[in-house]
Amino acid sequence: MSINRFYRSMSTLRFRISKAVEGTSKPPIPQAYAWASNYKETPTRPLLDVSQGVPGVPPPKLFLDELARTSSSPTSCGYVPNVGEPALRQAIVQEMKIAYGKNADISPDDIAITAGCNLAFSAAIMTIAERGDQVILPVPWYFNNEMTLSMLGIETVCLPTSPDAGFLPSAEECSKLITPKTKAIVLVSPNNPTGAIYPASLLAEFAALAHKYQIALIIDETYHDFIPDDSLPPHNLFFSTTAPSTNSNLISIQSHDSPTRISPQGLPEDWSWRNTLIHIFSFSKSYCIPGHRVGLVCASPDLIPSLNIALDNLQICAPRPPQLALSAVLPLLRPFVRKNKEDLLHRHKIFKEHLPAGWDIGAQGGYFAFVKHPWKGVKSEVVCKRLAEEIGVVCLPASFFGPASSGTGLERWVRFSVANVDDEKLKLVCLRLKEAMDVFGWELEN
Ligand SMILES: Cc1ncc(COP(=O)(O)O)c(C=O)c1O
Repeated sequence: MSINRFYRSMSTLRFRISKAVEGTSKPPIPQAYAWASNYKETPTRPLLDVSQGVPGVPPPKLFLDELARTSSSPTSCGYVPNVGEPALRQAIVQEMKIAYGKNADISPDDIAITAGCNLAFSAAIMTIAERGDQVILPVPWYFNNEMTLSMLGIETVCLPTSPDAGFLPSAEECSKLITPKTKAIVLVSPNNPTGAIYPASLLAEFAALAHKYQIALIIDETYHDFIPDDSLPPHNLFFSTTAPSTNSNLISIQSHDSPTRISPQGLPEDWSWRNTLIHIFSFSKSYCIPGHRVGLVCASPDLIPSLNIALDNLQICAPRPPQLALSAVLPLLRPFVRKNKEDLLHRHKIFKEHLPAGWDIGAQGGYFAFVKHPWKGVKSEVVCKRLAEEIGVVCLPASFFGPASSGTGLERWVRFSVANVDDEKLKLVCLRLKEAMDVFGWELEN
């Protein structure tokens, strides 16, 4: 019996679940917690949860005090326009200019506030694609992206990435997947689940590709505040190359029938980000407020009226008190965001230093480390189950982030979130991974 028919046979409902939901993968985190519930926790051997990408520290008191004020004010109880509080949209532009360069061409009219980044993605995709269309996702993917596409009847087209390439997708390989049905390429950088940080030049290649084929490039940059080297912006896409350039400044992307002329920065000669790019972001990680549901879409004002139709139905508006609180204190939260990043980078370092020999890190960044386990021929799902049930370490197998079919080359990979635990607990995680190598009894790769 299929799992869906099994659920149906257990149901007391006198109506059926939609095929769209039934045909969509189940959220994987509860599966990992089901394994963890079999672990016999003791005061000296607590469960160590490195599964979910959730912040391990609360937001700053400054924000909480402001939130207390805004949420208890009778003036915060009404709706706001779909696109959000004007003051927050303005404040976001200021923060984005710090991240992307003071001359980045971004204005409040480009910003729509959403109830979280997952909703930003859903609204953006509903605005530009429909049933039967195709959207390209690098594999491994952020599972909510694939689930959303599945619910909407949009086909996910897989763009494989490999450990040898540091889990960076290839724009050239991507170009081979584009068909008349393709509506968008979706990138997540720094990536969930791999942690790979896509270089600015790679993002420019994808921008050139999307521009050439007249499709959207959606980039989820939820983790951009955690990029180690912030001396340069994560990318230069928020600039336009409409300034006149000489022919000798231009090179072509080979292997396409009509080469797109691109500037030395890798962007097309007539690049104007609003024609192609949809940037999405979450306040859940940098500001540690996942429960308050604040995210954003940054896109052309030509897209926003259509996006508003989706937003009006999905959320009407994002929660108002956190929007008001953020708009009052956003620049003052910069030291907190920076400290958060430094703590996380330190934790990545600890993880790398303490991980037992045999476990290989493929990529690290944002909240995550993507690691190959040491056992020959054992699927990571089996490994993660035993780690949770017997050793008390909850982490997620790569199979949760890719197509159900095997052959992705990711069978031995595991995602660890280093954000959920403190430094000492992370060292304990590493000790327990060593212990697992001693007791699991499977054959180790040299
Ligand atoms: C890449 C990425 N995008 C979006 C989200 C969800 O963000 P939000 O809480 O704002 O919906 C997450 C959460 O893990 C994420 O990793």
